[in-house]
Amino acid sequence: MNQNLLKPFRTPETPGSFFLSFEGIEGSGKTTQISDLETFLKSINKRVLVLREPGGSTFGEKLREAILESKVPLHPLAECHLFLSSRAQLLNEKILPFLLRPDSVVILDRYIDSTIAYQGFARGLGLETILTLHQHNPLNLLPHRTYFLDIDFATSMDRQKSRGNAKDYFEAEQEEFYQKLIAGYRALPELFPDRILKIDASGTAESIKTQIMNDLKTYLK
Ligand SMILES: Nc1ncnc2c1ncn2[C@@H]1O[C@H](COP(=O)(O)OP(=O)(O)O)[C@@H](O)[C@H]1O
Ligand SMILES: [Mg+2]
Repeated sequence: MNQNLLKPFRTPETPGSFFLSFEGIEGSGKTTQISDLETFLKSINKRVLVLREPGGSTFGEKLREAILESKVPLHPLAECHLFLSSRAQLLNEKILPFLLRPDSVVILDRYIDSTIAYQGFARGLGLETILTLHQHNPLNLLPHRTYFLDIDFATSMDRQKSRGNAKDYFEAEQEEFYQKLIAGYRALPELFPDRILKIDASGTAESIKTQIMNDLKTYLK
């Protein structure tokens, strides 16, 4: 990996503001954990903004539909640029302005690591391509901390079944795609060791929450 590709990345600078993301395949528990965390952070008087990717803005939700409801396979680069377009808009319209206040926390349900795992690894564009596409403002903004909820394929399928929704564009993929995705996600903590914490998310929601809270304590002053 060309280390120069990591140089343009930065984290939000307002002291006391905090930018967090949750990552992991479908059913890993992102939405469940984010909801608990949002409740906790509000109880300690933080201003909290929870956003999902793709989407989160009016423009982004339209792109979300274009991707997740697509009936034809999209070229990996077409897919990738739709996500990046949604992300740039979300950063400019919502994330960056919100983080200007010192008591604010932005929590993202998926962010750059999803693009690396899905389009970089599973769709085969490669890590360097994805990093190259994030070199410029505002896409070069990284979270302070990322919780990667790690589960295997079988657990994902079980939990998707129990959730019971119709499968979207990515959920309908076959096992081979999921295995590449999981391998991609698992490679990421090594690349960003200071940012990404991998959590075994096969346990109970309560045990995962405890691990997240223990980690967060050291960051939330
Ligand atoms: N630790 C867990 N153990 C068992 N089931 C879980 C756990 N966390 C979440 N679930 C359930 O699994 C399903 C998927 O969880 P969800 O939070 O929606 O995952 P994601 O947002 O990552 O797709 C939901 O039905 C949820 O209630
Ligand atoms: Mg979810």
